Amino acid sequence: MRNSRIAGVGHYVPENVVTNKDLEKLMDTSDEWIRERTGIVERRYFQEGVDTTANMGAAAARKAIQMAGLEPKDIDMIVFATLSPDYVFPGSGVLMQRELGLKNIPALDVRNQCSGFVYALSVGDQFIKTGMYNNILVVGSEIHSTGLDFSTRGRGVSVIFGDGAGAVVLSPSDSNDKGILSTHLHADGEFAEELAVTAPNSNKKERLTHEMIDDGSVYPYMNGNMVFKHAVTRFPEVIEEALNKNGYKPEDIDLLVPHQANLRITSFIQQKMGLPTEKVMSNIQKYGNTTAASVPIALSEAYEEGRIKEGDLVCLAAFGSGFTWASALIRW
Ligand code: UT7
Repeated sequence: MRNSRIAGVGHYVPENVVTNKDLEKLMDTSDEWIRERTGIVERRYFQEGVDTTANMGAAAARKAIQMAGLEPKDIDMIVFATLSPDYVFPGSGVLMQRELGLKNIPALDVRNQCSGFVYALSVGDQFIKTGMYNNILVVGSEIHSTGLDFSTRGRGVSVIFGDGAGAVVLSPSDSNDKGILSTHLHADGEFAEELAVTAPNSNKKERLTHEMIDDGSVYPYMNGNMVFKHAVTRFPEVIEEALNKNGYKPEDIDLLVPHQANLRITSFIQQKMGLPTEKVMSNIQKYGNTTAASVPIALSEAYEEGRIKEGDLVCLAAFGSGFTWASALIRW
């Protein structure tokens, strides 16, 4: 079986910058609290009529396709990770396919929240390993800003999330020592409601009621402390799983690209793994938590900043709602 490699990577973020100070005008929060507890300084929010989940994904995808030296017509499959699809159905993958002018190729949506991109990468990797497809677009794109509670009731969650998109093109690797070495996926539905949006709800006779809007169940709920505790256990665990599988140690990592959930979580992982700051990618300061888009945006920026060179060992890792968690180890 052949390995897949990341042949191209790109990202797109909306132009609209929203600072912590801007949020102070909407709810009882402070720039100081947000910086101290999360590391976030600003985030991007979509512009109506300009940005959609699908077209932001397409913008990121075009850059990844260009870097891969391909054209959209060379793409064999789309795997689209999002928790904020344009519509309830169909998925954003087909909308992005239309946006890119592609016809007849499969488009699959992945619903794994913060781990969505790493899950999607693993799906794409399997299709290349088996030889079924050659060039696969793997995309993470999110618009959170239209689904947040901007009253003080929602401050524990709303200050964290931001909008944006990232994408990679997966193509076959010319060597089995290069490319995606392994992917590792996990889930524990026991904690499904600890980080969730539970309305609209298809188990209710009326999927969407005024009560659901009034009581806030249309907005994300997060048991922040519990999510935090699980995250700081699962991240190191799934990173070590990837290293062990391939016979590496933490010091062999050239760059760790973790899901950008909270700068304190990233610092904890860094300390636990004994990694220096320059080996851990952090851009949550600029974008907040963009869930499925966070890993590919961070990967794309790291590449642009020259922090990834050919031959580097790059580890991607994510944890989030589900709970789900995942990692991928890549020899670039
Ligand atoms: O990406 C998916 C995975 N998500 C995560 O990994 C997130 C994990 N959790 C976290 O990052 C943190 O739990 C949060 C950043 C969400 C919250 O930080 P925390 O240090 O756990 O704060 P807390 O929830 O324990 O709240 C501390 C205090 C509370 O006030 P009292 O009860 O001590 O008076 C909150 O009401 O801070 C208050 N608070 C705020 N104050 C100002 C909560 N949100 C805000 C806010 N501004 N935005």
